[in-house]
Amino acid sequence: MKFFIDTANLDEISAAAELGMLDGVTTNPSLVAKIVDDPERFGYGEFKKHIAKICEIVDGPVSAEVTTLMADEMTVQGVDLAGIHPNVVVKCPVTIEGLKAIRRLAGKGIRTNATLVFSPNQALLAAKAGASYVSPFVGRLDDISTEGMALVDQILTVFDNYRFTTEVLVASVRHPQHVVEAAMMGAHIATIPFKVIEQLVKHPLTDTGLDRFMQDASVIQ
Ligand code: E4P
Repeated sequence: MKFFIDTANLDEISAAAELGMLDGVTTNPSLVAKIVDDPERFGYGEFKKHIAKICEIVDGPVSAEVTTLMADEMTVQGVDLAGIHPNVVVKCPVTIEGLKAIRRLAGKGIRTNATLVFSPNQALLAAKAGASYVSPFVGRLDDISTEGMALVDQILTVFDNYRFTTEVLVASVRHPQHVVEAAMMGAHIATIPFKVIEQLVKHPLTDTGLDRFMQDASVIQ
């Protein structure tokens, strides 16, 4: 199973990379907006430079999302984003226009991540269009009292039935249990916020056990 980090924060990405668990990064416009101090001075050029910096830290897929809605513009922007670094994956929404863009970008050999997936049919359409990854947003489904992880299970079954090579990238992860369930289901990837990565390491018995070992270690030192 691959672990991506779901952030545009360079410090968080570096810290996760140091743990030796990081296989890639996902960003979206909202995550980018969080790291921008002065929106007046950021803009598209700075966004591209920021994605390039992420690619210097992590040797794996880095998702950068298009910020246009029509297939022609998405395709042009997708080609431009893919030119930043060979590891850039172009994130496109699962809409009619997004599917067209995914198909066109796939035709140019550019990897895409179909985002905002909330149903198995959306995932199936994205896979058929040639998406490299589909991102079911499990946390946002949980938020509306729908079982987010059930969607992941459905997509994995559908892809397995038809031998799609599109990878299932579990997104909108909110807590460690999402990661456990994704792993049990055999999801290819989970993209995890830094806060949840920290939670994955923690266990109260590890803390109390370590306290005891440190006390008893006085006989060794
Ligand atoms: C990942 O690719 C998505 O952008 C992200 O996981 C969305 O998560 P959220 O629902 O916490 O915003």
